[in-house]
Amino acid sequence: MYIQTKRCIVRDFEYNDSDDFFEFLSDEETCLNDGGYLPFKEKDELFDAIMVKQSQDSGRFVVEVKEIGKVIGAIHLMEVDGNNEMLEIGYIFNPNYVGYGYAGETVSAVIDYFFNEMNINKFDAGVFPFNIKSKQLLKKLGFIYDHLEKDACKHEKLGMCDFEHYIKVKNNVFVFEKLTQRNALIIADEWKYDGDYAFYDISADIEDYNEFINEEQRNKNDMFQVFLEGELVGFFCLMRNDNEIEIGLGLKPSLCGKGLGKVFITEIEAFLMPRYKYDTLVMNVAKFNERAIKSYFSCGYVTTKVYKNYTNGKDYDFLEMKKIVNF
Ligand SMILES: CC(C)(COP(=O)(O)OP(=O)(O)OC[C@H]1O[C@@H](n2cnc3c(N)ncnc32)[C@H](O)[C@@H]1OP(=O)(O)O)[C@@H](O)C(=O)NCCC(=O)NCCS
Repeated sequence: MYIQTKRCIVRDFEYNDSDDFFEFLSDEETCLNDGGYLPFKEKDELFDAIMVKQSQDSGRFVVEVKEIGKVIGAIHLMEVDGNNEMLEIGYIFNPNYVGYGYAGETVSAVIDYFFNEMNINKFDAGVFPFNIKSKQLLKKLGFIYDHLEKDACKHEKLGMCDFEHYIKVKNNVFVFEKLTQRNALIIADEWKYDGDYAFYDISADIEDYNEFINEEQRNKNDMFQVFLEGELVGFFCLMRNDNEIEIGLGLKPSLCGKGLGKVFITEIEAFLMPRYKYDTLVMNVAKFNERAIKSYFSCGYVTTKVYKNYTNGKDYDFLEMKKIVNF
C-alpha cells in the first residue's frame, strides 16, 4: 500500500525502518499503552527478529513524514476471523511527534482507502480503558463505543486488563437531514405498522400526532429524516437533558424486521458523535417491542429501569435502556 496525505506517506514496513521504530519501541509509556508490553532497552536479537517478521507480514504500514523522511509511527491492520468485510486496526506513534495531528491525518486516510477501494465496511479498534489519548483519536475519527472485552490482554505492570472496543462503519448507507414538513406529514399520516406495532403509528396518540405535524412544536427537539438510496426510510428525534440524549426513532413500516436495526442505530450514533456533546444515550421502549429491545441490546444498551408509562390511552410496561459512551 502507498498513500500520500498532506504531510505524510503511509507505506509498507521495510526492515530499514528499524532504527526509527526503535525510537518509539524503547519508550515505556508508548509500549505499555500500546499492548501492555515492556520497552526494548537495546536493538537486541529479539528486536531484530520482530523487525524481520514485520517486514514479511502483510498489514504492517509505517507513517513517514515527507519533509524529514522519517518514520514516526505505524499502523497495523488485522483480519477478523470469518469476516472479510471488517478489519481490526491498531496504531503506535513516536511520542516526540504526538500532538501535531499526524495520527488523525494518516489513520483516517487508511480507513478511507479501505472503505473506498477495498470493500471493507467496518473497522474495530481495541484500546486499554486508561489510554485516553488513543480514545480521543478514535472519537475524532468517528469511531463509536461497541463493547468491553474482559481480560483481553496481559499488561506487564497491571496484570490482565480489559479492552474497550470501538467501531467505525462505512458511513454512506443512510443520509440524515432535518425533518421537513412534507415528510413529517407522510410519516404521520401514511406510515402504519403491523399488528401490535401499530402502537408506534404517530397517529396512535393524538397529542403526539399534533406535536409531530406542528413544525414549531416538533422542533423543540432535534428531528431528522433518514434517506436510503434517495427514499425516505426513517426518522429520529433527540431529546437532550444535560449529558444525556434520549433517542426516539422509527424505520418505515415496510423495512422493519429485515435486519436493518443495528446498522440504523449504529449510523445514528456515528452521526451524533461529532455533532453533540453527551456521555449517555437513552432509549425508552415498550416492553413488548422485542424487535427494538434486541436491536438496542446488540448496540450495547442495557436496561436501567422498568416502569409503567401512560401513553396511547393506557398504562404500558416500559424499559429504559442506556448506553454509556466511553470516550
Ligand atoms: C426498532 C427498529 C429500528 C428495529 O429495526 P428492525 O430493522 O426492524 O430490526 P431487525 O430486523 O434488525 O431485528 C432486530 C432483532 O429483532 C428480531 N426481530 C425481528 N422481528 C421481530 C419480532 N417481530 N419479534 C421479536 N423479535 C424480532 C430480529 O431477529 C433481530 O434479532 P437479532 O438481533 O437477535 O438478530 C424498527 O423495527 C422500527 O423502527 N420499528 C418501528 C418503531 C419502533 O419500534 N421504534 C422504537 C421505539 S423505542
